[in-house]
Amino acid sequence: MTQAWSDLCLWEAFFNERRLGTLIELGTGAGGMALFLGLQCHQRGIQFYTFDHQQHFDFSRGLAQLINLHASFRHVDIFSEAGIEYISGVMEDCPRPLAVFFDNGNKRREWSLFAARLRAGESGMSSTPIVTGASWVCVKIQVQRIAPGAAMRACQPSFSGHGPWMRPSAAKACR
Ligand SMILES: C[S@@+](CC[C@H](N)C(=O)[O-])C[C@H]1O[C@@H](n2cnc3c(N)ncnc32)[C@H](O)[C@@H]1O
Repeated sequence: MTQAWSDLCLWEAFFNERRLGTLIELGTGAGGMALFLGLQCHQRGIQFYTFDHQQHFDFSRGLAQLINLHASFRHVDIFSEAGIEYISGVMEDCPRPLAVFFDNGNKRREWSLFAARLRAGESGMSSTPIVTGASWVCVKIQVQRIAPGAAMRACQPSFSGHGPWMRPSAAKACR
């Protein structure tokens, strides 16, 4: 897993505070975070997808096998024409509300391609520097930091910089 341990606290609080139909992770990597997110989604009845153009992770053993994590994995180049079309289709058809974890390695590009497909009130999770700069905020859509509830506030002393962002209902796409 390439996240800080404190991110798990933040994610758990995020799951507790926001109702989700689907979570999409862009960038599976070695699969540690996919395992955590997949288990959370499995327990909470949330549809989970994780996308990568390489398969670094063995889904056939242990917890991954028990929760059938392989069924969530999509072997896709997310920047290819086919990949963009495929992911856009998944985002269109999946149970809502949707949240997207932008962790593919080129966050600006993935944010600009896919964040605008989030609907009002839905969430994108990314590291703070990606979306705090004015140019980032307006890559495609306006976002606002989700005001943390009590559980999220409890995570903040060990906060690593990742954060949930929401598309506010009043926001318009800004080009
Ligand atoms: C930072 S890692 C993901 C880490 C993972 N989310 C975690 O927390 O454990 C980034 C991943 O993005 C994948 N990636 C890079 N470019 C990609 C592309 N064009 N399409 C799909 N995946 C890509 C890499 O193979 C790598 O596994």
